[in-house]
Amino acid sequence: MAFEIAEYVRRVAPVEGDDLDYAAFERQPLPAGALRCLRYMHDVESHTVCYLRDLLVTQAHRDPEITTFLTFWNYEEYWHGEAIGRVLAAHGEPAGLARVTPMRTSLGWHDRISPMTTWLASLAVREFVAVHMTWGAINEWSTQAGYARLVAHADHPVLTQLLKRIMRQEGRHIDFYSSQAARRLASSAAARRLTRLALRRFWTPVGAGVMPEPEVRHLIAYLFGDEEGRAVAARIDRHVDRLPGLTGLRLATSTVDRYARAA
Ligand SMILES: [Fe+2]
Ligand SMILES: [Fe+2]
Repeated sequence: MAFEIAEYVRRVAPVEGDDLDYAAFERQPLPAGALRCLRYMHDVESHTVCYLRDLLVTQAHRDPEITTFLTFWNYEEYWHGEAIGRVLAAHGEPAGLARVTPMRTSLGWHDRISPMTTWLASLAVREFVAVHMTWGAINEWSTQAGYARLVAHADHPVLTQLLKRIMRQEGRHIDFYSSQAARRLASSAAARRLTRLALRRFWTPVGAGVMPEPEVRHLIAYLFGDEEGRAVAARIDRHVDRLPGLTGLRLATSTVDRYARAA
């Protein structure tokens, strides 16, 4: 089904959170493992604008449907970070600028050259946009699945309400990226070949490029390391399998095996 960009723009809004009872976290705080996942999610959602910086230097900026989507995707992801920040703050933890500023300034040379790397990749590879759209779809599937796992693990009524609202917005992000990926992969054998190669060689879980390794390990082991988590990872792989030319990559399940073993 085609993605209706005008309809998406019409529905864009900061995720609703003003009506939630944050005082409930004082009566029933989240377990330490869940809070640690929320810190990760807060930081990665808040980093979206930096991913956007890296993407706008590529050929993607020539497609107005993509730039329209990215404008509002970035806006919604910003508010996901803010909403999760309110949960951290309710636990007496730093959130928002107090977390994002030190994280941003701690990023090294890798972050500084990142726009150049994507620009060069985009110049060298004509099918770059297909890779980008597929990458985005996999990241949105994983993010939504991660929130669903956190809802199940934490079993907290207020967190459940908030994360389900965020997951609905992630669902629209999935619709955009996956419809773009399916169309672009279906129309070009070179795009299928290159996307498959890029994913096999370079794909890492959402946030792994900017978050410390022990945090990535904890997040994956905590959310996906049990039997149900592995079943969810297998479902992400099945989504990827359905995209043209991408069967059998097992990105999610092999990542869970690797990180859960290391944890
Ligand atoms: Fe998000
Ligand atoms: Fe998203």
